[in-house]
Amino acid sequence: MKKVMVVFGTRPEAIKLVPVIKELEKNTQKIRVIKVVTAQHRQMLDQVLKVFNITTDYDLNIMKKKQNLSQITTLILQKLDRIIEKEKPDIMLVQGDTTTAFSAALSAFYHKVNIGHIEAGLRTYDKFNPYPEEINRKLVTAIADLHFAPTVLAYNNLLKENVPKNKIYITGNTVIDALFMTLKQKYEFDIPFLKKFDFSKKKTILVTVHRRENWGMPLQNICKALKIIVSSSKDAEVIFPVHYNPIVRGTVQNILKNESKIHLIDPLEYQPFVHLMNRAYLILTDSGGIQEEAPSLGKPVLVLRKITERPEAVQSGTVKIVGDNINNIVKETIKLLSFKAKYKKMSCKINPYGDGKAASKIVKIIIHKLC
Ligand code: UD1
Ligand code: UDP
Repeated sequence: MKKVMVVFGTRPEAIKLVPVIKELEKNTQKIRVIKVVTAQHRQMLDQVLKVFNITTDYDLNIMKKKQNLSQITTLILQKLDRIIEKEKPDIMLVQGDTTTAFSAALSAFYHKVNIGHIEAGLRTYDKFNPYPEEINRKLVTAIADLHFAPTVLAYNNLLKENVPKNKIYITGNTVIDALFMTLKQKYEFDIPFLKKFDFSKKKTILVTVHRRENWGMPLQNICKALKIIVSSSKDAEVIFPVHYNPIVRGTVQNILKNESKIHLIDPLEYQPFVHLMNRAYLILTDSGGIQEEAPSLGKPVLVLRKITERPEAVQSGTVKIVGDNINNIVKETIKLLSFKAKYKKMSCKINPYGDGKAASKIVKIIIHKLC
């Protein structure tokens, strides 16, 4: 029996690894799956585990209020050591670019355990955008043994860095698997605010922001832009699930708490969030995962960042980078609210990030390699 250790810690890693875990667990005659959560996120991680009914074997429970990057890294290294020593996995799987992914991969490397990197090869080539994720992802590439690239572009990025061709697999992104799994289920909002919100009479702008490079002035600009947008449009309203990060919450609450057309709510569970994306008119976000999901739903996205490591949907025209300049955010949003043709052009359904079968491709490769 081969042992596959899956390590994750934040909301997006959990969402993207659920399909892989479910697929791995279909093969219990060949492999044992050991699920380790670092709990770099607590509530936002538990929300995903609960919705998808995922149990865990180890919980490092590291989250601290206003944690910094060194704390996350050192706590994971210290706490994962004993678990790897005890379990001696044949491979460790990590996902994406978080500090959990990087620290867990580093720990595996210290124990000479093979590493499989899911969502490998995304790059901006800009050290501080996204920060620290660009470098986290590159560091994982340097020590990983199997690289699961979601797109051809990501595959080519890895080739350019001399990753051996026979160690890279193009699989699609597992977030599309999670999205399709969720869309298949019947769902009605059970949150009172969303239940009574009249989506048919309003142009709903869904907003999420959390990136470290947006803390401070950029986030203040984004909030100020939202105020201008709702005051210059008669039917636009904002629904903004505010990330639990106290730095983000502080700024957002300060600037937006008294705005009647801007609704600040807590982070949503995945199912209501997907359905909210589906009901929204357009999305403003700095999230990586949402940039990947929204094109599958035919929702235009304005990206509140200077640069993106996910240019595929920008190239196909459903996602546009608007940065953190107030005038630019307002101008681009108002264009989409006012000009039907422009809106239509950006709202076609495309799937540059996957077909919903990424997890089964990844698991087939892992089983083939291990068994
Ligand atoms: C982390 C990841 C980022 C990812 C994002 C997804 C790193 C360095 N950052 O950023 O790549 O895009 O998650 O959301 O890996 N908090 C809670 N409850 C939660 C989650 C967070 O209270 O469930 C608060 C805590 O005070 C915590 C703070 O948010 O200290 C920041 O969390 P952290 O994981 O350091 O940063 P994120 O911005 O969430
Ligand atoms: N998401 C969610 N509830 C929310 C906001 C986002 O379930 O209130 C989901 C979203 O659909 C996507 C993922 O969380 O799959 C993105 O997470 P986040 O933006 O925190 O991280 P990133 O993708 O930027 O790393």
